[in-house]
Amino acid sequence: TTVEWEAESYDMGGHDTYMHKEIHEQADAVDRALRGRIDDRFSTVHLGGLNLDAREARAVRRVKILGCGTSYHAGQIGAQMIEELARIPADAEPASEFRYRNPVVDPDTLYIAVSQSGETYDVLAAVQELKRKGARVLGLVNVVGSAIARETDGGIYVHAGPEVCVVSTKCFTNMVVSFGLLALHLGRTRDLSVADGKRILAGLRKLPAQIEEILANEAQIEELAKEYADAKSMMFIGRVRGYPVAREASLKLKEVSYIHAEAYPASELKHGPLALIEPAMPTVAIVPDDELLEKNRAALEEIKARSGRILAVAHSVQEKADHTIVVPKNEHELDAILMGIPLQLFAYYTAKAMGRDIDKPRNLAKSVTVE
Ligand code: G6P
Repeated sequence: TTVEWEAESYDMGGHDTYMHKEIHEQADAVDRALRGRIDDRFSTVHLGGLNLDAREARAVRRVKILGCGTSYHAGQIGAQMIEELARIPADAEPASEFRYRNPVVDPDTLYIAVSQSGETYDVLAAVQELKRKGARVLGLVNVVGSAIARETDGGIYVHAGPEVCVVSTKCFTNMVVSFGLLALHLGRTRDLSVADGKRILAGLRKLPAQIEEILANEAQIEELAKEYADAKSMMFIGRVRGYPVAREASLKLKEVSYIHAEAYPASELKHGPLALIEPAMPTVAIVPDDELLEKNRAALEEIKARSGRILAVAHSVQEKADHTIVVPKNEHELDAILMGIPLQLFAYYTAKAMGRDIDKPRNLAKSVTVE
């Protein structure tokens, strides 16, 4: 298949794995996703392939995002960005679930299929079913000319470049950035002000340098990964913007290290998972400096009271945590883009400490083109 061909033909450029290489390519990848798209005159972005004029964009009543695995998580962040910036109700669902539950297909809903490869069978089948029912479907895809890119009415190429490692890193980041562009675009055809448009554009422009800043902290993350690699199981928590980040980070850790990990909204801890908290079950907490900071801090206190170890990913050092990875702050609507990046390195270094086959985890495939 194409994917195997790619694996053999791209140089690792001095990195020990493609995963490590691809994590380090993210500043350039994000730069590519932004290039040629920023429209300062109208404080918006220009997305050439969308095939959605302003009137059509304004007629959208809902957005439904479909994807699998990491792409589904990117879609969850994307849905939140679209709700926040464009104030259009939006949600994401695994494409496989969507297509088997005889969904109500609504002509005023904009459907978006997210896929790195553009070949994932469940996503493609969902697109075909939607098209058959007359829905408008856009693609948010990495591989140019792939099946999903061809079958959708238009879309956004995420421009992450070839991704070889089975687990997705730079594509995830570029998908989330692309959703940010789409949310800004939809927002600016509606009620998002020029000032807010400018603020988001400035935030987007800052991303590549901030990614470099996060990656420069690699040595600390490597040490932390070694420290937590003895865990049999890990809890990942976050609220609202931080929750899909927690889900993606827990997926990444499972995939490459085989450590069991689960993600929960921090607010749901008290409804069950708190029973699991003990020193042998560390928690990774996503703690952005936003309107939920105090709530997140209260969750850390609850965990500490049960002697749980805590690794926080935050905008400032968290007193209640045993360790904090500090991430640079952006505009709060875009924070989710950056907060997961140190946890990609965390998953990588945990797997490395455990001697795992990082680029080709057992039982997994880069692209699942069967049902
Ligand atoms: C496989 C890969 C995942 C990926 C998912 C969706 O399960 O192992 O890393 O997220 O497929 O792939 P896609 O190409 O549609 O994004």
